Amino acid sequence: MAVFHTKESLRAELLQLRNKGRTIGLVPTMGALHKGHLSLVKEAAAQNNVVVVSIFVNPTQFDNKEDLNKYPRDLEADTKLLTSVVPDIIIFAPEVEEIYTGDVSSASFDFDGLEFRMEGRYRKGHFDGVGTIVKRLFEIVAPHNAYFGEKDYQQLQVIKTLVKKHQLPVQVHGCPIEREENGLAMSSRNERLTKEQRKEGGFIYRTLQTAKEKFGTESATEVREWVTEQFKRHPLFELEYMEIADADTLQTADVKTNNRKYRAFIAVYAGDVRLIDNIALN
Ligand code: PAF
Repeated sequence: MAVFHTKESLRAELLQLRNKGRTIGLVPTMGALHKGHLSLVKEAAAQNNVVVVSIFVNPTQFDNKEDLNKYPRDLEADTKLLTSVVPDIIIFAPEVEEIYTGDVSSASFDFDGLEFRMEGRYRKGHFDGVGTIVKRLFEIVAPHNAYFGEKDYQQLQVIKTLVKKHQLPVQVHGCPIEREENGLAMSSRNERLTKEQRKEGGFIYRTLQTAKEKFGTESATEVREWVTEQFKRHPLFELEYMEIADADTLQTADVKTNNRKYRAFIAVYAGDVRLIDNIALN
């Protein structure tokens, strides 16, 4: 295991490995790691000679200062978890200054409109922040492969678009959502839930599963209305949005079209903790 805090030292190490013909898999994270992240790391280890995990809480993708400040940070615990699955892992844990050198701001991206939908609509500038950090990490690490979880499905689509538009030489892989026993999608934010919220968190996934069943026979509008109604009645969770969208373009599905793949997306507040999830509908 090796931890690097500067771009230069990491680049020097990776150059040596690349010169020896090693393939590099990158798992970008913001730390507070859980089993969901570990599944990405395992996938990266299965497909590459070298696994790099970046741990960086990226300030430019947060539109809410409190959310940024409260984001859990524990490099020691993260390192322990990572080495338990890949003992010779390479960790890149830079400070903000190392990445942004005096200008903590995002570049501006055109993701063909993907950036304005759902998460982009409710978190202004979020995908410019994600695009900025992911592009920088790709430039620093120059990985052959990079791994992202499908929990952030919209982010995954945005990153695929980033790679395509900027012709970045990296293969992007999406990995399935890992869930807690009750179905709640694994997230670093789950740590901030109360015991009761976490226990009840399976309600979100159960509702999505029923929405999927209903989508077989009902229209997208009917399914959306049904989900909205379920959350109105729930004492612990407040629905921010529920969207049924084309899985590729993320355009709202008003009318079902044969041969198109659809997904349901949801954002929910449990107190001040914001949770997202999604499910393939067909
Ligand atoms: O999904 C995340 O944890 C972050 O958005 C990412 C991709 C590491 C960029 O900061």
